[in-house]
Amino acid sequence: MTNDAPSSRLSLTEQAALTSGASLWYTKAVGDLPALMLTDGPHGVRKQVAGPDQLAILVSEPATCFPPAVAMGCTWDPELVHRVGVALGREARAMGVAVLLGPGINLKRTPLGGRNFEYYAEDPLLTGVLAVEWVRGLQSQGVGASLKHFAVNSQETDRMRISADLDQRSLREMYLRAFQRVVQQAQPWTVMCAYNRINGVYASQNHWLLTEVLRDEWGFGGVVVSDWGAVVDRVAAVRAGLDLAMPGPDEAGDRALVQAVTAGLLDPAALATAADRVLALIDRTGATAQAAATQATATQAGATYDAEAHHALAREVASAAIVLLKNEGDLLPLPQSGASIAVIGEYARTPRYQGGGSSQINPTRLDNALAEITALTSAPVRFAAGYRIGGTVDETLAAQAVAAARESDVAVVFAGTAADTEGLDLQTLDLPADQIALIERVAAANPKTVVVLCNGAVVLTRAWDRAVPALVEGWLLGQAGGGALADVLFGRINPSGRLAETIPVRLADHPSYLDFPGEAGHVRYGEGIHVGYRGFDAREQEVAYPFGFGLSYTTFGYGQATASIVDGGIEVRVPVSNTGARDGREVVQVYASLPGSRVRRAVRELKGFASVTIPAGQTVEVGIHIPRSDLAYWDPRLCRWLVEGGAYRLAVGASSRDPRTSVTVEVDGDATRVPLTADSTLAEWMSDPKGAELLGQVFAAADHGQIPSPAADPQILALLGSVPLGRLGALPGSPLDTAAIEELTAAANS
Ligand code: BGC
Repeated sequence: MTNDAPSSRLSLTEQAALTSGASLWYTKAVGDLPALMLTDGPHGVRKQVAGPDQLAILVSEPATCFPPAVAMGCTWDPELVHRVGVALGREARAMGVAVLLGPGINLKRTPLGGRNFEYYAEDPLLTGVLAVEWVRGLQSQGVGASLKHFAVNSQETDRMRISADLDQRSLREMYLRAFQRVVQQAQPWTVMCAYNRINGVYASQNHWLLTEVLRDEWGFGGVVVSDWGAVVDRVAAVRAGLDLAMPGPDEAGDRALVQAVTAGLLDPAALATAADRVLALIDRTGATAQAAATQATATQAGATYDAEAHHALAREVASAAIVLLKNEGDLLPLPQSGASIAVIGEYARTPRYQGGGSSQINPTRLDNALAEITALTSAPVRFAAGYRIGGTVDETLAAQAVAAARESDVAVVFAGTAADTEGLDLQTLDLPADQIALIERVAAANPKTVVVLCNGAVVLTRAWDRAVPALVEGWLLGQAGGGALADVLFGRINPSGRLAETIPVRLADHPSYLDFPGEAGHVRYGEGIHVGYRGFDAREQEVAYPFGFGLSYTTFGYGQATASIVDGGIEVRVPVSNTGARDGREVVQVYASLPGSRVRRAVRELKGFASVTIPAGQTVEVGIHIPRSDLAYWDPRLCRWLVEGGAYRLAVGASSRDPRTSVTVEVDGDATRVPLTADSTLAEWMSDPKGAELLGQVFAAADHGQIPSPAADPQILALLGSVPLGRLGALPGSPLDTAAIEELTAAANS
């Protein structure tokens, strides 16, 4: 920063003070600039009412509880997510909140992740595309986003200390890729660094992560804020590129910064830059101290929102997120008259609609499925709780439920889990045993049984879903989820959600299984790039329901896909027809593979998708553009993204395991060459045209040597191919001495 920078007018002490919060949710007020409120996020505005300094986690002002990210991810609908962002921005403004702490975009690496309900998907493209729109929508209202948790924060176990240990390719291609996309395409005002360590270094003190990658490579220009309590050493954090340590105050830390600068241990420019970035953030919100003093900051002056309209939006999103997993004999949709319904399960009346922890919203109102179902049918509805939430077997409740099912034309069982919360990973993916037993007994009493799931992390279905003809994955759907479920059950809405994560047959099948949750402070990401469906596909493993899957009350047919190169990227086109009798939304998915690739790749990777609503009987020409940069893999030797040239095979279809048409397209690769050195092997030299030519000349000239030319003798290449050239010189009869190798290397790389 130059001397014109605002921080140059501040003393060192003032600069240091600016880089920590004033309280739990506020930054410090400076001069004309007021304190800013940063608050959770992400699926609603959680503004605490009990005073900013108290840990009154569950007491917050009423706000719309939109579907949590687990559900939003299953919409596969960026436009819808954008509208949620806008609505959140309006609510945040109306409540005087300057920065909303979201979106959370960590990958669902393990299905046991306690915060999976706060994250979108097991795939970085789907995550990134949706999060870009969330941030754009929010920030269009003058409210800043906080992209979190940067980075590799995919578990809760030991979350404040654990080191996620992983290789550069997995880090770049899987765990950083969505962050990169959102930073570059949506410019979030802030990024929140994670609690955990990455390859041994705390995210909050990681210069490589916070400065080299985030700012230097990706061009991030905003504020890096710490997760609440993530900073271990304030000096190391500022040195690494952290701007704002939250919460505050942290007077000891502020003093440590001043002392470090005075003692020459911290570059004064690093502290000044952090202070300037915080000042720029405050400035950016347009807030003024005067307005703050009159309780009407610019972020809230005159701002209101329409709670009814937001509730309706929450219902629309929830209905687009519901995934129909099974529907034998077209049991669904249910008729709205003439068929009596047994509604079974406490969750029908007491909705489980969000997870626990910092994202917990106090909803403006709360729909329940029982009331909504009752309102939509003219036929009798019999309710039976069936079980108690918490899992104590209650034979009386179960028997009542079975009787209700027997007396009714159809039974709808609401089953679910209550375990998802920040701070704790799950122990199991099973439904509570009493609920499984109840499902089986109800299904035996009434073959027309539908199960509706309410869960934040996936639950295993294989043990019991064969007993029921219809299965609806209802996730955690926010405050309007009850109405959305009723809409889908009765066919007022045609279900169109698609799984954003695989439902495995068994937990032990999951690619992360052997390397979770780690021990002794380290968790090894042993599956590498094979996260989620990539791992199941690589091992040709059976799954219960694949990534991208979801049924509809209509059917879709695919014509032949075509592909062409446009702007260096790939333009895929495919005609998709609604071949059934109802209007419906299809999520058209494109998965790429590169047979014969020189690097290890997933069998197929999601590279693009489109959400299209198609009227019954009509055909739509769907276009999906895959930017060239999305074809790149991370090359750890060259430390850069690289597009490998070749014939890419694009499978276009309705899930990762349901390709309907495919097309192959030739892509020009990046011109690149790994420099040859004394440490490059004989095989590497021989596979490089220039290297092979030069080496051939050396061997040809040395006709008395005892080692025949590898160019002339394939057996020699097989035997010695893995020997670095530098060490070949030590073998008797080698024509290569140190000087010759130096000459060769210089010539090869010239
Ligand atoms: C969570 C963040 C949250 C912050 C503030 C932390 O414990 O990890 O997601 O934004 O608290 O509540």
